[in-house]
Amino acid sequence: MITDDAVAAFREEFGAEPAGLWAAPGRLNLIGEHTDYNEGFVLPFALPQRTIAAVGPAPAGEWTVCSTSEDRAVAFGLTEPGQVTGWAAYVAGVVWSLHDAGHEVPGARIAIASEVPLGSGLSSSAALESSVLTALIDLGGLDVPLEKRPAIAQRAENVYVGAPTGILDQSASIRCQEGKALFLDCRSYEIDQIPFDLAAAGLAILVINSNAPHQHVDGEYGARRRTCEEAARLLGVPALRDITGDQLDDVLARLDDEVMRRRVRHVVTEDDRVLETVKLLHTGQVREIGPLLTASHVSMRDDFEITVPQVDIAVETALRAGAHGARMTGGGFGGCVLALIDTGAADAVTAAVEEAYAKEGFTPPTAWTVTAGPGATQL
Ligand code: GLA
Repeated sequence: MITDDAVAAFREEFGAEPAGLWAAPGRLNLIGEHTDYNEGFVLPFALPQRTIAAVGPAPAGEWTVCSTSEDRAVAFGLTEPGQVTGWAAYVAGVVWSLHDAGHEVPGARIAIASEVPLGSGLSSSAALESSVLTALIDLGGLDVPLEKRPAIAQRAENVYVGAPTGILDQSASIRCQEGKALFLDCRSYEIDQIPFDLAAAGLAILVINSNAPHQHVDGEYGARRRTCEEAARLLGVPALRDITGDQLDDVLARLDDEVMRRRVRHVVTEDDRVLETVKLLHTGQVREIGPLLTASHVSMRDDFEITVPQVDIAVETALRAGAHGARMTGGGFGGCVLALIDTGAADAVTAAVEEAYAKEGFTPPTAWTVTAGPGATQL
């Protein structure tokens, strides 16, 4: 059990019992990719896979963190962004961000164990940030409303670690609820918890980890973001979110750059697809979201150009094997595909993708079905 692992790591490192255990999930973004930093819409749900933080008190101004997947513990005091590097930067970043937001962060000893696969587009970093953030808030009795927490975790990642990501991952890990998908407006941070009971509709979500190696991910992500922001500037809108689907043709005609036109088309059509998906889910038309998922993939492949052959083949194969819809999820350039399938179809779809990967000579994929789990919490 992952919780036992965290407790064992705490005992071994600190020779004591933790004061408590906090858990935060990875996330699967159902739809709405690269829309968050364009102030648009996203629709993630929390994975059952979680990161556990076993935490105990330490003297004021002292933090030590260890992890079951790392050889050595890292100790630090109050630092400035960039001073702690590597995996522990996410933890030091949370301490810094919480302090920077005006809170008295309690000193802590922290042992981490995680079952969220790393580098797979399932937000292992947000799960780490969110578990530590929630633990420090509870341990210190800090008054930080739930809706303010994602931005604190996001600043740890943006400013301390230096990754220019949006608010999707931390919002999902912190605000998602069991059995629900989280519709988030990334401008106002308003949410709608959408009932997401796939089993009742005879359906399931299969996650297929392409296990494709990530390359140049950070650079490409930043480049996409800069192009979108530049397009918004040229078009005279605060963000691409402000362009609606029916304005799209006119707007595209005003842009000279073909690549920029495609990037804008992805973001504007993706926002619309999120809104359509939400409408369908609200009326219980779950199977009907399939074509929107697939259209999202095509848009990421052709317009946003963030897919790789491994994920394209996983999507095509899943669809041929009977999936109602399929798409890459997360930032892109590898990572996971999600497929909306009939209950009981997981083995057949997985076998089809395995066979296709073997034919291409790809590293074998890993696949499992998921349901919507709870957000960050003390256990
Ligand atoms: C990564 C980022 C998110 C979001 C997605 C793409 O997961 O961390 O903020 O931009 O990519 O939707």
